[in-house]
Formats: sequence, structure tokens, C-alpha cells
Amino acid sequence: MDIMQVMKDRYSCRKFTDEQLTDDELHAILEAGRIAPSACNNQPWRFIVLQSVDELAKVDECSKCRYGAQTAILVCFDKDESAKNPDVTPDYGWIDCGLAIMQMALEAESIGIASCIVGAYQPAVAREVFNLPDNLVTYQFLMLGHAEAVPGPMHERRHSLDEIVIRGGF
Ligand SMILES: Cc1cc2nc3c(=O)[nH]c(=O)nc-3n(C[C@H](O)[C@H](O)[C@H](O)COP(=O)(O)O)c2cc1C
Repeated sequence: MDIMQVMKDRYSCRKFTDEQLTDDELHAILEAGRIAPSACNNQPWRFIVLQSVDELAKVDECSKCRYGAQTAILVCFDKDESAKNPDVTPDYGWIDCGLAIMQMALEAESIGIASCIVGAYQPAVAREVFNLPDNLVTYQFLMLGHAEAVPGPMHERRHSLDEIVIRGGF
């Protein structure tokens, strides 16, 4: 599948059906995150997969933005891993997780699974309900499922290249 088309087709889905992902679909999405690039190849991400009724209820305690998704992945990073080469590189845990979550969202799109990256959640609540160890920093949720919504107005709203590209410096 053409990567540009996948990137254009992906949108933030804000209503999902009750249909669960298959194990193969979930595996493909996690695999896309696994192979993402990271600073110094530290691979600091940890993907907490949440699918049971109890687990999804805990997601709802953290965020109002599950949108009915039957699978949520809480993307975190291990700060002991992301910050382990201070002489070579700063702690890029946030950036590494951003790349991994985007790869997962794009892989999802390419296999017909809708997604929404969600930053509107309470990190302290997530830490408590999922019993996170101190070394894990929460990044974002990735909500996944079958779409029951079409793209919102923001999906078409992007700056033109003229507005964001600067040739040759200022
Ligand atoms: C880091 C990040 C955090 C986001 N957090 C939320 C969120 O909490 N709730 C939500 O509905 N959408 C969230 N979004 C989705 C954005 O609103 C959306 O990507 C943007 O409006 C463009 O729309 P599109 O993804 O449909 O193209 C988030 C996106 C990113 C990249």
C-alpha cells in the first residue's frame, strides 16, 4: 500500500464500534511500534495493552477520550533506558514514543483499523490504576478499533507548504 495514501487516510477516530481487534491485527500494530527508530537505538518504549472490561474501565478513569475503543495501548517509556547515554544524547524518550505511536497508527490504518492518539488523560491516575513502576513515564494512549465515525473537520485543516517551509534559512 502506498505510504502517502495511508498517511492521508489516517484520521483521529472519535467513535468506535464494539468489535475487538483480532490477535493478528494487534500483533501487527505492536510490531510496527517495536521496529520504530529511537535515539541510540535505546527502544525505551513499553506498550501496555488494555482490552478487558476491567482494563477499559480503568482507561475511562484516566481519560474521557476512549470513544468506545475496545483496545487501548498506553505508550510509556522507561526513563532508565531513554536517559542511559547522557554523554551521547539527551533523554529522547518523548520523541522515541512519538515515532513509535505514529508507526502503530499508520500500520493500523493500513490494515483497516482506526485509531486516535490521546494526550488528554490524567497521568497520575494512569500511574495508580495500572500500578506503574517509578521508572516508567506515561506518554499517550493509542485508542484502536473499528471506525463508526468519519474524519472530523480538523483532518483537512493543515497549513500549506508555503506557510511552513523556509528555504535557505531566515
Ligand atoms: C500528541 C497528540 C495528542 C492528541 N490528543 C488528543 C486527545 O486527547 N483527544 C482527541 O480526541 N484527539 C487527540 N489528538 C488528535 C488531534 O486532535 C488530531 O490529530 C488533529 O486534530 C488532526 O486531526 P486528524 O488526526 O484527524 O488528522 C491528539 C493528537 C496528537 C498528535
